[in-house]
Amino acid sequence: MGTLRHQRIVILGAGGNLGRAFVHHLAPIAKSLRVYDRSELDLTQKKTLRRLFDERPDLILNCAAYTDVDGAERDEARAFEVNARAPGDLALIASGIGAKLVHFSTDYVFDGEANEPYAVDAPVAPIGAYGRTKAEGERRVRLALPHDHLIVRTSWVYAPWGTNFVSTIRRLLAERPVIRVVSDQRGRPSSALELARRSLQLIESGASGTYHLSDEGEASWYEFALEIAGVVGGRARIEPCRSEEYPTFARRPRFSVLDLSETHALVGKGRHWKEALREAIAPKELALGLPG
Ligand SMILES: NC(=O)c1ccc[n+]([C@@H]2O[C@H](COP(=O)([O-])OP(=O)(O)OC[C@H]3O[C@@H](n4cnc5c(N)ncnc54)[C@H](OP(=O)(O)O)[C@@H]3O)[C@@H](O)[C@H]2O)c1
Repeated sequence: MGTLRHQRIVILGAGGNLGRAFVHHLAPIAKSLRVYDRSELDLTQKKTLRRLFDERPDLILNCAAYTDVDGAERDEARAFEVNARAPGDLALIASGIGAKLVHFSTDYVFDGEANEPYAVDAPVAPIGAYGRTKAEGERRVRLALPHDHLIVRTSWVYAPWGTNFVSTIRRLLAERPVIRVVSDQRGRPSSALELARRSLQLIESGASGTYHLSDEGEASWYEFALEIAGVVGGRARIEPCRSEEYPTFARRPRFSVLDLSETHALVGKGRHWKEALREAIAPKELALGLPG
């Protein structure tokens, strides 16, 4: 990672799936890295955000988000603060100090009614509060920082740490005789380790604007769960079900496969999700903690 090594880099939301993956990749190589989890820098507190004016980073990686899709439906105002207002404020600060802002968004900005992968410039039409707040965050970042932003839309993120689909299925495999998993929603699983690694490639290649980035291949949640069980073992039987049989507070897109062609053109293809899953599930040799 040539140029990144010499930049002043700040990671926000460093305690999450993706934030920790960036720390994992950057801590060994970056000469100047500041890492903030929510307890150290709350994006909704403008006063603490202003700290960035003093630090004057070259690059801000915003991994912070309100990611509780059902929770956002109940309290959209709170999701809005983190997912829309804060990225807009961050973009204004980045503009003021001449920093590049890398911001992450979601497949849930699309309605899920398509039958082919969503292109980067496909119209956004979120069907829920989480997607609405994330779409508004994108809009504000573009507006405040037209040239120096990179928005990376991703999907179905999991990591060897934290709470995510993989950790939930692993737990259920140990606890239950039968697990029912929806089979009529399709998307692309994304290992946070791969997402961070390839985002850094995009940054190094000078990408700006909006890109789609996930692991290669696609799956239903049911197929994803079967693969997890195949890797970790466990006695539970996994059965497919339809979305209607597994009611949730928020409606999810039926089809949220992102078209990756722009990313392929710039940095080539990534790993297939099944391969990335194996790496993420058995990361014993990796140093996974946040640096002190
Ligand atoms: N997870 C997915 O499946 C998925 C799918 C598509 C796109 N994405 C996007 O990918 C990015 C990374 O997601 P992720 O999976 O890493 O999410 P995550 O594991 O939920 O991490 C988000 C982090 O943001 C922190 N945070 C929340 N509110 C904050 C605030 N006000 N100030 C500072 N930090 C705050 C959270 O801290 P607390 O834990 O203390 O609340 C958490 O550590 C997000 O932009 C997300 O929208 C995720």
